[in-house]
Amino acid sequence: MAAECVLEMEQICAGYGGYDVLRGVSLRVFRGEIVSVIGPNGAGKSTIFKTIFGFLRPRTGHIRFQGAEIGGLPPDRMAERGLAYVPQGRSVFPHMTVWENLELGGYIRGDRTALQADLEAVAARFPLLREKRTALAGALSGGQQQVVEMARCLLLRPSLMLVDEPSLGLSPKFAEMIFETIRQVRDAGTTIMLVEQNARRALEISDRGYVLELGQNRYEGTGAELLASADVKRLYLGG
Ligand SMILES: Nc1ncnc2c1ncn2[C@@H]1O[C@H](COP(=O)(O)OP(=O)(O)O)[C@@H](O)[C@H]1O
Ligand SMILES: [Mg+2]
Repeated sequence: MAAECVLEMEQICAGYGGYDVLRGVSLRVFRGEIVSVIGPNGAGKSTIFKTIFGFLRPRTGHIRFQGAEIGGLPPDRMAERGLAYVPQGRSVFPHMTVWENLELGGYIRGDRTALQADLEAVAARFPLLREKRTALAGALSGGQQQVVEMARCLLLRPSLMLVDEPSLGLSPKFAEMIFETIRQVRDAGTTIMLVEQNARRALEISDRGYVLELGQNRYEGTGAELLASADVKRLYLGG
């Protein structure tokens, strides 16, 4: 049986104010995968996520999510379709407690009882959330805030989670905790698309990856293939 394609971008051109940052990007994500997009700063990695989630309208091309065309649909329609987005930079509500942040994550879900059960399940999976339940989210370390954000997204029960630069600004220890968390989330059944400046570590946990350069996907392969590629090593992995 062929694996199910959750997300497909086909020849996407998109950008800002009439200027295309993405110039014909095509990629696919299959159910159960971790797929990384790597590439230099400014290559358009975050722009890919903004376009998928509907903050930018593609000028040409198609984006299909679980079989339906979503190119040009607004962001507020994405969560209900099963798409979750953890943007680059911290986005917890700093003056609310960890638990309040999590409850907000499930706000669009109608079934309160099921949401409570999921809250408890997420808290059981990440003990930090229970320990810090009543702490203000803004008082947590960057790595801990990142865990809260991912947990908050999981409460939407997404089919696909877009995670942008989760290890940015974290100490190596917290970065490692985040990569481990991402792997756990995938192992528990959520498909993940990951953008990371720590390309080596991202590819190590990825099933497949794409290398973005000058607004186009230039190389693609399994995580292991990209890690072993002489070109990718020289250009993107520091030798
Ligand atoms: N809001 C914006 N308005 C105009 N240009 C932008 C905006 N955001 C990003 N850009 C430009 O788009 C290009 C790609 O940015 P981005 O997708 O953030 O790159 P990456 O995430 O790969 O570092 C960069 O040249 C950046 O300056
Ligand atoms: Mg970025």
